[in-house]
Amino acid sequence: MNRRETARVHHSVGDTSLETAEILIIGSGAAGLSCAVRLAEAGHACTVVCKTQLASGSSLWAQGGISAVLGPDDTQEAHVQDTLIAGAGLCDEAAVRYTVEHGAEVVHWLLDRGVAFTHDENDPSGTRLHLTREGGHSHRRVAHAADATGRAVETTLADLAIANPLIHVCEHTMAVDLIVDKAAQRVLGAYLLDVKTGTIRTVTARAIVLATGGANQAYLYLSNPDGGSSGDGIAMAWRAGCRVSNMEFMQFHPTGLYHPGSGSFLISEALRGEGAKLTLPDGSRFMDRFDPRAELAPRDIVARAIDHEMKRLGIRHVWLDIRHRGPEFIHAHFPSIQAHCLELGIDITQQPIPVVPIAHFTCGGVTTDLDARTDLAGLYAIGEVACTGLHGANRMASNSLLECLVFARAATNDLLAHWDALPTTRTLPEWDASRVSDSDEDVVISHNWLELRTFMWDYVGIVRTTKRLLRAQHRVHLLQREIAEFYRNHHVTADLLELRNLVTVADLIVRSALGRHESRGLHYTLDYLQTDAVATPTVLTP
Ligand code: FAD
Ligand code: SIN
Repeated sequence: MNRRETARVHHSVGDTSLETAEILIIGSGAAGLSCAVRLAEAGHACTVVCKTQLASGSSLWAQGGISAVLGPDDTQEAHVQDTLIAGAGLCDEAAVRYTVEHGAEVVHWLLDRGVAFTHDENDPSGTRLHLTREGGHSHRRVAHAADATGRAVETTLADLAIANPLIHVCEHTMAVDLIVDKAAQRVLGAYLLDVKTGTIRTVTARAIVLATGGANQAYLYLSNPDGGSSGDGIAMAWRAGCRVSNMEFMQFHPTGLYHPGSGSFLISEALRGEGAKLTLPDGSRFMDRFDPRAELAPRDIVARAIDHEMKRLGIRHVWLDIRHRGPEFIHAHFPSIQAHCLELGIDITQQPIPVVPIAHFTCGGVTTDLDARTDLAGLYAIGEVACTGLHGANRMASNSLLECLVFARAATNDLLAHWDALPTTRTLPEWDASRVSDSDEDVVISHNWLELRTFMWDYVGIVRTTKRLLRAQHRVHLLQREIAEFYRNHHVTADLLELRNLVTVADLIVRSALGRHESRGLHYTLDYLQTDAVATPTVLTP
C-alpha cells in the first residue's frame, strides 16, 4: 500500500454528509486538486471525489514538467508563437495568450505551496529553477522536478487537501452521470457510485467542476502505467447536453518504452530536449529527413516519422540514445526512467532505449470558455477533460499541466466572483435500481473493452483512412447498442461505467475524424493529405 492509500478519507459515499456539496469537484488530478486548494484557501468548502486514491490520474505520472516563461531570455510572445505553430493553425489564440500570461504565476503558486522543483545547480543564489527543453519549444521553458514532476505536484496538493478541513475528500467514488435541469440549462448534482460497495448516491451541489482527465484508454497502447483515462467527464458532459470539440486530435507520444516485461511506461520528451537521438537498428538518425527541427519537432511529426520508419523497415520499435550525456548527467536528470529501465535490464547509460509511439493525450474535450465554463450553468470543466482551444490540432509538450493549473485558477475565480448568485442546493431524484439485476456475464464487459481499444488502435491511430474510420464506426455502433442494453439491465460497476464512457468517446473521436477532410496536426489521413487554408475546429453538439 503506498503512502497515498493510507491517507485519511474524510467521507465515504455512504455518509449523509455527502448528499450536499457546496462545490463538487469530480477528479483529483492537478486540475481538480489545485481548484480545491484554491477554493479552500479562499475560505470555501468543497468536496473532491475520485475513482481510486486521491493522488491519481495522469497527473501523478507526468514526467517532463510544466512550461512557463521563466528563463531570462524567453518571452511570452515566443511561448505563444511556439504553441500556435505546434497546434497547426487550430489553436484559439485568445486561449493561448491567456494561458501563457498566467504560466509563471501558477508555477510560483506551486513553489509557494512546497512543490520541490529542480533548481539550477549553476545559480549561486539557489533560487533559479532549472528549465529543460522539449519538442516545439524555442527556449528552455519547462520547470520540472527531475523526471517525476507530476508526482511532486500531486503529492504536495494531495497533502494540502487532506490537511484542509474545508476540503472533503471521497476516494473510490465514481461519478456516473450529471443531473441537469434541462429547462434552465443548469447542472444540479450528480449520481456517485461507491466503487467498493456498489451503492449509488444522489449528490446535490451549487456548482460542479469536472476534472476527470482525458480518454487515452480508448487505445490499446498508452502512456499511463495505471491503465489510463476513460473519458468519463467528456461522456457525462455530452450526455448532459454540452458541446464537445476537436476530438479527432488524439496525441500519440513518440517515445513509449517498448519492452515485453514492462507495463505502459513513458520515456520523457525531456531526454530529447537534453540531446537524446532517435535511431534505426543500424544506428543511423532519421528525424532530420522529416523535419529540420529533427528530434525536437512537435510530437505529431515525430510520432508519424517513427511510425513511417517502423512500417518501412518492418521493425517493432526504434531506439532513443542518450548515452553521450554520460552517467552522472543521466542519473541527475532522469533517475526514475533510469531505475525503471535498469529493472528491465536496460542500462540507459550504456544502451539505447527501445521506443514506440503510444496514445497519450486528448487534445479535444468539453467545450469551455476562458472562465472554464461549459454550456451548462454551474458546470465547469478544467484540465484534460476540457477543450479550451489551447492545444489546437496538437498539444505542445508540457502545456497540459500548465493548462490544468491556469484553468483551475480561472474556474475558482469565476466561482468566487459569482458565489452569492450560485443557487442553493435542492432535493433531487434518487437513483432507481429497481428494475436491474446482477450481471452473470461480465465477460461482455472485458471482451468489448479489449475489442474497442484494439480497433481504435488499428483503425483510428496515427495514420488514418476513410475506409478504416468507417470500419471503426461500424463496430462502435454495434458496441454502443450492446453496452446500452447491458447498462439498462444490470447493476452498474466501475468497469461497466468506464466501458460505456469509452464507447461514447470513441464514437465522438471517429465522428470528428470522419468530418475532417484534410490532414492537420494529429489528424493525418491518406485520403485528404492537404491542409486547408482556413483552420476550422470540430464542434459536436448533442
Ligand atoms: P488527471 O490527472 O488524469 O486526473 C483525473 C482525475 O479524475 C483522477 O483523480 C480520476 O480518479 C478522476 N476521475 C476520472 N473519472 C472519474 C469519475 N467518473 N468519477 C470520479 N473521479 C473520476 N503533461 C505535461 O504538461 N507535462 C508532462 O510532463 C506530462 N507528462 C505526462 C506523462 C504521462 C505518463 C501522461 C499519461 C501524461 C503526461 N502529461 C504531461 C499530460 C498531463 O499529465 C495530463 O494531461 C494532466 O495531468 C491531466 O490532469 P487532470 O487533472 O486533467 O486529470
Ligand atoms: C514527457 O515528459 O514527455 C511528457 C510531457 C508532456 O506530455 O507534456
